[in-house]
Amino acid sequence: MCGIVGYLGKEDGAHVIIDGLKRLEYRGYDSWGIAASNDGKIDIHKQVGKIGGFDLKRDLPAFHGNICIGHTRWATHGGVTEKNSHPHLSCDKRIAVVHNGIVENYQELKTELEKKGHKFVSQTDTEVLAHLIEEKLKTKKELKDAVRASLKEVEGSYALGIIDREQKIMIGARLGSPLVFGLGKDGFYLGSDVPAFLEFTNKVIFLGEHEMVEVKPEGYKIINIESGQQIKSKIVKIAWSIEDAEKGGQPHFMIKEMLEQPMVVDKTVGTDPTELEKAAKLIRKAKKIYVVACGTALHAGLYGAYLLAQNNDLMVQPISAGEFPYFGHLIKKNDLVITVSQSGETADVLGAVRSAQAAGAKVLALVNVLGSSLMRLADGSILTKAGSEICVLSTKAYVSQQAMFAMLSAHLNGKPEEGKKALRAIKKDIKTILEKDNLKKIRKLAKKLSGVPNIYALGRGINYPNSLESCLKIKEVSYIHAEGFAGGDLKHGPIALIEKDVPVLVFSTNDQVQKEIISNAMEVKARGAYVIGIGPENNQVFEEYLPVSANGFYTPIASIVYSQLIAYYIALEKQLDPDKPRNLAKSVTVK
Ligand code: AGP
Repeated sequence: MCGIVGYLGKEDGAHVIIDGLKRLEYRGYDSWGIAASNDGKIDIHKQVGKIGGFDLKRDLPAFHGNICIGHTRWATHGGVTEKNSHPHLSCDKRIAVVHNGIVENYQELKTELEKKGHKFVSQTDTEVLAHLIEEKLKTKKELKDAVRASLKEVEGSYALGIIDREQKIMIGARLGSPLVFGLGKDGFYLGSDVPAFLEFTNKVIFLGEHEMVEVKPEGYKIINIESGQQIKSKIVKIAWSIEDAEKGGQPHFMIKEMLEQPMVVDKTVGTDPTELEKAAKLIRKAKKIYVVACGTALHAGLYGAYLLAQNNDLMVQPISAGEFPYFGHLIKKNDLVITVSQSGETADVLGAVRSAQAAGAKVLALVNVLGSSLMRLADGSILTKAGSEICVLSTKAYVSQQAMFAMLSAHLNGKPEEGKKALRAIKKDIKTILEKDNLKKIRKLAKKLSGVPNIYALGRGINYPNSLESCLKIKEVSYIHAEGFAGGDLKHGPIALIEKDVPVLVFSTNDQVQKEIISNAMEVKARGAYVIGIGPENNQVFEEYLPVSANGFYTPIASIVYSQLIAYYIALEKQLDPDKPRNLAKSVTVK
């Protein structure tokens, strides 16, 4: 996944691009670049590494232009080098292009273009687009027509920013990767995500699939790429404040976003009942129900499956979106696929949605980004209330997804107040867990754990998803190997891993499951494990005990916060950057 920023206006736009790229750095930080059109030429600057420490005035004082594009890269085709960084130029250096997505047929296009004399300087798929547009400009007068003709030959996905130093135009185009168009008083903006230009305007148009925006100093046009027809698009006012996209005074987005979780639960309580009813209708009508997602969102979907089973007697089959193609042929007309996604741009999820709908099934999306591809594609959607989640690791989005399932489950039972009451209690509990003294206690525990090679987590029933999510958090941010198990699986193999001092997080309960999960804790303790109990009741089997209130099915919405904090503080102990873990990207928009 990469980040795109564009600007066309009266002012010099270089600082707009650099500031915007810094806000999008979570989308990819292998390398970055900027191109600006001024006095009939295109200036370009690219460099490997993160943009965080770059200072425009100090490092690139003479760089300016009122038509600019920029890009942060997460490499897919071609290594992490300056040459492979975007923007990419046409041979005549008239056109500059930035791209998020994949040109699947770039090899054959490249061969054709080389035969016509085009010289390539990078190994990327994206550079093909710059030369293809240049080629089309030989026969198409207008840039927009040359871009349309080029994209008709492209197979794959794209969000594009294109500038033309001759026609003094900027174009944004979208298929499969997000692109937002901003309308400001001093100019127009492009961004992969709203935080890119939120400080300049909160009036946006979410470009739809196969749509492009042609931006000139005097105005803009939204055009359907296939038909060339101009279309009217809704201007949306974004409620997110710029603080959403900043750290709110915290050292990292991760801790800032964890500290927002009480508010996230609060906002979820306020979910519009009509939104819930539309979702409930899809569930009631469904013959078979599946929940499909990736990573953390899949763990939230698994939590939802347990909740709908235990609270609503509904059988929901969880499937990892990446594995969906191997089950897709079994999806039938009256089935329902519930998808869960923070970004709404995860390629595997979108692929699953398209194939489910092709089979005639309905799709319900629990999605956190307004106007995202998933929200557009789904037959019904509920906007989760996490707000802009910048950290690569999903924390508040996970809690918002669990909380939304709680609201949905209570609504389905005709007892919405039950869900609201439970979530208000959960909100209080999370606030307690996040209190300063408690954070100190968790940081001390994390210090103890920071040197271990392996960490395990155990949960049963509705607490099982949290054991998986805990270990994903620990893996992602501290690079310690961590594995979550269902308590019942322990004796079928994993117990062989337990040895002296190995830490095991145990999600315990005070209900009918308590006896079994405590006996699991005893089994690992008997083999030397360092048992950390997380639950409503302490027990002598625990070396460490992290209290959480008893809220029945909803307890995991609070208890996960301990694991998020443990993972975060281990990362700090290991001097790692929790906001930019190695090899990861915020949203996996390629398969
Ligand atoms: C979460 O911490 C991970 N970064 C990752 O597993 C993420 O949950 C997954 O890629 C799904 O993303 P989505 O919610 O945007 O679809």
